[in-house]
Amino acid sequence: MPTFDFDRVVERRGTHASKWDNMAKLSGITAPDAIPMWVADMDFPAPPGVTETLKAEVERATHGYYADTGSWAKALVDWMGKRHGVTIDPAWVSPTPGIVSGLGLILQAVTAPGDEVVVFPPAYHAFRKIINANERKILDAQLVERNGRYAMDLDALKQKLTPRSKVVFFCSPHNPGGTVWSPQEIKALAGFCAEHDLILVSDEIHCDLVFGGFKHTPTMTAAPEIADRLITCVAATKTFNLAGAHVGACFTSNPALKKKLDARIGASGLASYNGFGMIATEAAWRTGEAWLDALLVYLRESRDRFDKRIEAAAPGARSMRLGGTYLAWVDFAGTGLKPEDVAARVAKRARIYVSPGEQFGPGGETWLRFNFATPRPILDDALGRLDDAFADLRK
Ligand SMILES: Cc1ncc(COP(=O)(O)O)c(C=O)c1O
Repeated sequence: MPTFDFDRVVERRGTHASKWDNMAKLSGITAPDAIPMWVADMDFPAPPGVTETLKAEVERATHGYYADTGSWAKALVDWMGKRHGVTIDPAWVSPTPGIVSGLGLILQAVTAPGDEVVVFPPAYHAFRKIINANERKILDAQLVERNGRYAMDLDALKQKLTPRSKVVFFCSPHNPGGTVWSPQEIKALAGFCAEHDLILVSDEIHCDLVFGGFKHTPTMTAAPEIADRLITCVAATKTFNLAGAHVGACFTSNPALKKKLDARIGASGLASYNGFGMIATEAAWRTGEAWLDALLVYLRESRDRFDKRIEAAAPGARSMRLGGTYLAWVDFAGTGLKPEDVAARVAKRARIYVSPGEQFGPGGETWLRFNFATPRPILDDALGRLDDAFADLRK
């Protein structure tokens, strides 16, 4: 296996890196040594094949409109086949400028203002934002914790459905908490959607970031019988640290559904794509596999190190065991501290910006989300500071 130096620190301050350069503005943490552990991008350079491809593009220096020859969807299809064993027809695929914009376009395509969209909180905060921004309503289906991971309570959800409930936003693997859903859980949700005439949107952006011992099951594999009401969203951007490229893919085998989505894409003037994003993400799918395999080993060790250290630093804190994602999800309820106190210790004493749990909706109030996808020297610095920030609890 080729070696990749994930320990190497790349200075990202002053490079338009939102994670670093928006930190002071968003968090109020102005310390020059502040560490960002919030938004979900990584501090590692992308796979070398991506850099080489982009370099060649830059050197050609002719950056006109991008021609979609079909190679991008083919690269995606090959990747999904190889990594996840699914057969996708390239004709099912619609590129979008990222997954969140894809979710908004899907809502516009298949719902009307005032319709309800099911989310499973604590859930990725942009789900809530895009639902609200499109004047649709959030229908919260609270996740429950079972055996240290999240589980869906479909009986409770059934009681809440109304005739306006139209769509389910399913996050697989789940963010936050890193739950890798079992085929049975996915099948049960799919059956529920069929029974209640709901469109199932399966956001699988984290599908490649799954650790040894866990296996991602695409919703279309677990529940092919509901293919007609399923739209899956995937991207190379999370996997290969290309979030700034802003390219995602939504696919469905239902031509009528795809037609509706494509109509919204066209109506929004988004049927012509960002060339740099398309070129970078295609290169990632085509050349990034060895890099990803090495990254997953590195991230798994970081996960273990983070969990051990945070639980030792703040007695009573509990880090949910992640099956996937690089977003540690830590419940501080057991420390006996108020959430404001925990937040102040992390922001002021440790000078670390994390994602507050309440951002993820009901059930997140006593939690914080820490992004540990950073070189070990930065991670160890952060862990040392967290140790100090909770030192008095250990006396
Ligand atoms: C579940 C989920 N969906 C979508 C996104 C963002 O996708 P994009 O940047 O393509 O809009 C994220 C980023 O953290 C995510 O966690």
